[in-house]
Amino acid sequence: MLETVLGRKQTRPPVWIMRQAGRYLPEYREVRQKAGGFLELCYTPELATEVTLQPLRRFDLDAAILFSDILVIPDALGQKVRFEVGEGPLLEPLEASAVERLEPARAGEHLKPVLETVRRLRAALPANKTLIGFCGAPWTVATYMLNGRGSPDQWVARRFALEHPEAFARLMDILVETSIDYLVAQFEAGADVVQLFESWALNLDEDAFATQVIGPNKRIVDGVRARIPNAPIIGFPRGAAGNLARFARETGVNVLGIDYATPLDFVRSALPPELTVQGNLDPLRLVIGGEVMESRAREIIAAFSDRPHIFNLGHGIVPETPIAHVERLIDLVKNG
Ligand code: CP3
Repeated sequence: MLETVLGRKQTRPPVWIMRQAGRYLPEYREVRQKAGGFLELCYTPELATEVTLQPLRRFDLDAAILFSDILVIPDALGQKVRFEVGEGPLLEPLEASAVERLEPARAGEHLKPVLETVRRLRAALPANKTLIGFCGAPWTVATYMLNGRGSPDQWVARRFALEHPEAFARLMDILVETSIDYLVAQFEAGADVVQLFESWALNLDEDAFATQVIGPNKRIVDGVRARIPNAPIIGFPRGAAGNLARFARETGVNVLGIDYATPLDFVRSALPPELTVQGNLDPLRLVIGGEVMESRAREIIAAFSDRPHIFNLGHGIVPETPIAHVERLIDLVKNG
C-alpha cells in the first residue's frame, strides 16, 4: 500500500475501505455500546485501538485507518460536539463573533489520547500493514462548525465564507494550524500516511473552490512537509468534479481519492498518469453485491491498471452493508 502511495504501481491494487471500522460490524456495535458516547470511544485508546483492528481481523485489508472522527478538532477547539443516535453530529453553531473565542492552545493536550491510539496501533500492526492517520480538511470541518450539523447544500457555511471573509479566513487559519500540528503528531506517533477528508468539496464555484478547498489543503500539505519532509498525503476532495486536476496539481498530494460520481475516463484523461488514484466503487454496489458490485469493481481495476491505484470505495461504507459482500470484494481485488 505504501509503495503505491509513493507512486509505484503493483500487480494487484492494494485495498482498504473508507470508514472500514463501524456499524456494519457487530463487534464494533458491541464496543460502541460499552464505550457509552461516540467521542468517549474516540478518546479511549484501548477501545479505539480495538475497533481500528477489528476490520483487519476479518478481512485481508492492506491498511488500518485510525479510529477517530473529523469532528474531534472542533471539540478540541472548545466548540461543543455531540453525537445523538440517528441524528449524526450536533454542534453549537459558530457565529462570526465567536471565531475568536476558539481555543487553539488547548487542542494539543485535548487530542493526546488519539495520539496514544496511533502509538498502540503501530506497535500492534505488522510492518506490511499501512497505518493511515487522518483529519478533516478545514472547509469540511467548517461546514459542520458553522451550520451546527450536516446539511445537503452547505448553505450556511458557503454564505458565511462570502459574507464574512475576514472571520472565515481567521477560522481557516485556526483549522489549518491545528490540523498541521495534529497530523505531524500522528506521523511522529507512527502513522505511515494521512488522509485529508474533504467530504464537502461540492457545490462550490471555481473561486470558492480555490479559496475554501485548494488553499487550506495546500497549506496543510506544505505545513506538514515543512516538518516531516516528503510526508505521504492522500487528498479526498469529494465532489470536486471539474476542479479535480487543479486540486491535485496545486495541493501536491501524493494520492487523489476519487468519488464514485467521477467517470473513469475523466480520471484517465484529466490526471497525470503517474499520480496515484484511490477509489472509487459506489458504496451502494457493495450493499447490493453480486454482479452489480463485481462488474463495476472489475471495470475500475481495468481502467486504472496502467497507473498506481489503491482500490477503495468512492465514499464511506454504510451500516447496511452485508459482511459477506465485503469479503467477496476484497477477494476479487486480490485474486480476480
Ligand atoms: O473506519 C474509519 O474510517 C475510521 C473512523 C472514521 C469515522 N469518521 C468514524 C465514525 C473516519 C475516518 C470518519 C470521517 C468522517 N467523520 C467524515 C469524512 C468521511 C465521510 O464519510 O465523508 C465525516 C464527514 C465525519 C463526520 C461524521 N461522523 C458524521 C457525519 C457522522 C454521522 C453519520 C455516520 O456516518 O455515521 C459521524 C459519526 C461516526 N464517525 C461514526 C463512525 C464509526 C458512527 C457513529 C456511531 O458509532 O454511532
